[in-house]
Amino acid sequence: MSDNDWNPDDYDDGHGFVTEYGRDVLRLLDPQPGERILDVGCGTGHLTAAIADSGADVVGIDATSAMIAKARETYPDLVFEQADAREYDPNSEFDAVFSNAALHWTPGTDHDDILSMAADTLSEGGRFVAELGGDGNVQRIVDALEAELDERGEDVSHPWYFPSIGEYAPRLEDHGFEVTFARLFDRPTELEGGADGLRNWLEMFGDDFFAGLSETERDDALDDIEDRLREDLFDPETETWTADYRRLRFVAKR
Ligand code: BEZ
Repeated sequence: MSDNDWNPDDYDDGHGFVTEYGRDVLRLLDPQPGERILDVGCGTGHLTAAIADSGADVVGIDATSAMIAKARETYPDLVFEQADAREYDPNSEFDAVFSNAALHWTPGTDHDDILSMAADTLSEGGRFVAELGGDGNVQRIVDALEAELDERGEDVSHPWYFPSIGEYAPRLEDHGFEVTFARLFDRPTELEGGADGLRNWLEMFGDDFFAGLSETERDDALDDIEDRLREDLFDPETETWTADYRRLRFVAKR
């Protein structure tokens, strides 16, 4: 979750499903009036605002400066801070820590820093409610990307951390949490943008893969990745791409 050059308008316009699916995770959080809640990886702040609507007192943090700028512009009455969750020092207690579709951007080796931060900032009995990409998330897309770039002589591996329950629950326990709910499930996700949906997704989230290619090579590689995935992930009748998302969702009590 380090600062990157994501465009917040592209993120909202082309990937609004991230927020929409996140509303389901919010129901699991069940924020109450007066509770203090930390939203980790808040992006453009829409779920932070939904938490505030419940009457809770919420702080949103995100490592990407452009996201925080957009969140502040859209919700000027809410509190947002640019911060990397690994290094964040909240200086106050929270009743809950919440995170949707953000934690998988931090390498697995660094999750102990995030879990320490969450454990330290939560009051006794406080809860950590989160969803991230789980084991096998976007596996077909990753395989096609890596195979295509390998064929082009590019040595890349994906930057994401998609843990299983068996891997993540012990990590939570090691930080003093009791895991009261954990679920790993398939959530095929229709990408926005019709026939351009996969390309838009790769351009938004997978840009680092193509860093070593010229613009023409990148375009060719994107065409070839689409070809590799068309049969499995594209529906020609509706002209939509569906990504093979898998989610890990958990509730852990301090
Ligand atoms: C996800 O939400 O699962 C995800 C989003 C972008 C890249 C990788 C995974």
